[in-house]
Amino acid sequence: MRDFLGDGIFNADGDTWKLQRQVSSHEFNTKSLRKFVETAVDSEISGRLVPVMKLAAGDKTHQLDFQDILQRFAFDNICRIAFGYDPAYLSPSLPPEAEKFAVAFQKAIELSRQRFASITPYYWKIKKALNFGSEKQLKIAVDQVREFAKEIINRKKKQLLIQSGHSDEDILSRFLVSGHSDEDFVADIVISFILAGRDTTSAALTWFFWLLSKNPKVEAEIFIEVNKDKSSSSELSSAYDEVKDMVYTHGCLCEAMRLYPPVPVDTKAALNDDVWPDGTVVKKGMRVCYHPYAMGRVEEVWGGDWAEFRPERWLEREEEGGGAGKWKFVGRDSYTYTVFQAGPRICLGKEMAFIQMKRVVAGVLRRFRVVPVVVEGVEPVYVMDFTAKMKGGFPVKIIEREGV
Ligand code: HEM
Repeated sequence: MRDFLGDGIFNADGDTWKLQRQVSSHEFNTKSLRKFVETAVDSEISGRLVPVMKLAAGDKTHQLDFQDILQRFAFDNICRIAFGYDPAYLSPSLPPEAEKFAVAFQKAIELSRQRFASITPYYWKIKKALNFGSEKQLKIAVDQVREFAKEIINRKKKQLLIQSGHSDEDILSRFLVSGHSDEDFVADIVISFILAGRDTTSAALTWFFWLLSKNPKVEAEIFIEVNKDKSSSSELSSAYDEVKDMVYTHGCLCEAMRLYPPVPVDTKAALNDDVWPDGTVVKKGMRVCYHPYAMGRVEEVWGGDWAEFRPERWLEREEEGGGAGKWKFVGRDSYTYTVFQAGPRICLGKEMAFIQMKRVVAGVLRRFRVVPVVVEGVEPVYVMDFTAKMKGGFPVKIIEREGV
């Protein structure tokens, strides 16, 4: 992955990783970043997602690939958060500059992934040395992504000079202001962030909406929740609190990702010889994988009904005046539920991801019903990539709810 990700956080170890982790986790915990994320998500929902869905709802024969729509949504969103740039990938009139960036990014991921599928690493290494075939294309795509990232970095630097160091809210500006101005290094950082935020939330939401369509009672409960929160939120109460309170929806998202984790499998390499508590011997250099898809389906952990979509396994009713009250979220530890990984390299964007996903769920379900166009009894196929995908997309019809 080095050609594409360089020393970005996903690909780094040791001091470079530590530095990026420290600066990012500090920034991720600031209220201002949270606020910025909410504003970016909300404007993408009202300015793009809702209009696109309204348009689809207006024509009863119109099918949308909802997986594609959610990916475009997430790409716009993460670009705005990572480097304060809006590619407008979800807008109907796609600006050519944006398309080029989005397409180059997609190609760079796809071609990097192909290396893993190569029969022997020598094969792609020879192609790389001779600069031909897929390796030549990879180089072109990576160069395009980097050029574009650097252009944005330079624009930002100039802007910061004009604003005498006063930072914008995006992650790139935060790194630049904290004294990290090496172009290649900050380009690495933003590229990793875009990768992290691009396909994960969209994968989670694709499967979430599929599961809802099969579980109308769950959808009805979420509908009540998102409308209750809307009516109770005064202008003064922060939007973050509104989302924080969507406890039932939170349980549903966790349950959807247990069955269909956005990152299906994750691989590490042992730095030194090790012996695990159960006696397993791991030698230096060995590859070790953990497998959230399989771990979410283990009967000993999740019970005999592991195959069922049952959000209540994450929820409890609080007692209120002798009767059943509000839902309370009952989390599982991160080593049992490994969807966001665990330990020092646990996902940095978990909270940000939930904010984004809950706001999309509320924004969509308040206004629309998402109805899959599938042959009765045929289940969509979960494909394992770096992130999970629904094979062939997720064709849906959009129905606007009455009276909204
Ligand atoms: C449902 C959504 C998401 C899921 C399931 C998820 C899952 C994961 C997983 C499994 C890892 C470990 C990857 C590895 O070992 O290399 C990870 C790391 C990471 N995630 Fe997420 N992620 C999500 C959304 C996000 C978002 C929106 C961001 C924000 C930009 C983000 C930022 C990161 C970063 C920066 C790391 C690297 C942490 C490190 O290596 O120290 N993630 N995530």
